[in-house]
Amino acid sequence: MTYTHRHLLGIEPLDPAEITTILDLAEDYVTLNRSTDKHSEALRGLTQINMFFENSTRTQASFELAGKRLGADVMNMSMQSSSVKKGETLIDTALTLNAMHPDLLVVRHPHSGAVDLLAQKVNCAVLNAGDGKHEHPTQALLDALTIRRKKGRLHRLTVAICGDIAHSRVARSNLILLGKMENRVRLIGPPTLMPAGVAEFGCEVYDDMRQGLEGADVVMMLRLQKERMDGGFIPSEREYYHRYGLDAEKLAFAKEDAIVMHPGPMNRGVEIDGTIADDINRSVIQEQVEMGVAVRMAAMDLLARNLRAARAA
Ligand code: NCD
Repeated sequence: MTYTHRHLLGIEPLDPAEITTILDLAEDYVTLNRSTDKHSEALRGLTQINMFFENSTRTQASFELAGKRLGADVMNMSMQSSSVKKGETLIDTALTLNAMHPDLLVVRHPHSGAVDLLAQKVNCAVLNAGDGKHEHPTQALLDALTIRRKKGRLHRLTVAICGDIAHSRVARSNLILLGKMENRVRLIGPPTLMPAGVAEFGCEVYDDMRQGLEGADVVMMLRLQKERMDGGFIPSEREYYHRYGLDAEKLAFAKEDAIVMHPGPMNRGVEIDGTIADDINRSVIQEQVEMGVAVRMAAMDLLARNLRAARAA
């Protein structure tokens, strides 16, 4: 087992062996989660605090369930109604929580870099559950596990990531992970939703969806991140769906056995046709949710091992 980090802040600092370690351990948790008795003792005695400064349904539920199945004491802080509203800074909130001796802190924040900053101020393990447009490491890991299980490998695949690339931490973390594992990544979207300097990542960029999907093994769709846009980035949702919405006609350009992914929440009729999303022969969206719990259990288990080892030293 190789995973030497104190935190899980992004995919960027991980090497391929560490990514494989997390995914291999997650496989064990997939099996546990499918059994009747879902309990493990990996986090027994430890306290996990979930701090979500941005709305979340599946990620927060997934981290909560993961912690409970591993035997941790899990607390969800509702940051919408917290002292942050009274003007407390992120750092003061973090220091207050730190004084309660948590062992694992799961943080989502609207600002890129906020979770890294917080990790420097506390003495527990920090997991990034999404920071602004920066990273969402557990999402990329759960996507990787889903791909590896469906395609039988996680290298030399052609993966098309389509939609609002510019505002997406999911795209960014996936791009980094898939590149490290030696896959071919294509980014598809209107030029207004493509970040500057994207070519540095060594991927191909397309504004024509049919060309971009040609021969793809994996088609990953993204939501338009309206909450991160100031101003109009697309002419209209109808026009966007016409050019970039995944429907049967466009999907036919990908490989016959290509899988369709979406991190959720999904906007049917904007970036994806509802019948494609529900097609159990193509769409792996439900598997992604299942893999999410297993990957988060694996990540927290590994961090807890490092935490215990560091404290024992
Ligand atoms: C994503 C996120 O929050 O970045 N959702 C998720 O974690 N499942 C993607 C999104 O919000 O569109």
